[in-house]
Amino acid sequence: MAEPNIAQDSPFVMEIEPGNYAWCACGQSDNQPYCDGSHKGTEFSPIVEQIEETKTVAWCGCKHSGSKPFCDGTHSDLGD
Ligand code: FES
Ligand code: FES
Repeated sequence: MAEPNIAQDSPFVMEIEPGNYAWCACGQSDNQPYCDGSHKGTEFSPIVEQIEETKTVAWCGCKHSGSKPFCDGTHSDLGD
């Protein structure tokens, strides 16, 4: 299993509207935290999350969360 790229070592906290969001799992998108297709040719693919109501979410930026696509605090344990 390849290691995802660490896009940033903290979550992307943002208020979002209802809809479907494709969270970048590979860490290579230029449109973080969302997929821009850069995963092509890797074993990664985005996780599509359906958001039902306007709310603040913490998308995982380190791509190592145990509860992807959301931050679970794992970023604190990543060395650099
Ligand atoms: Fe990272 Fe698509 S660009 S999963
Ligand atoms: Fe990935 Fe927090 S940013 S677990």
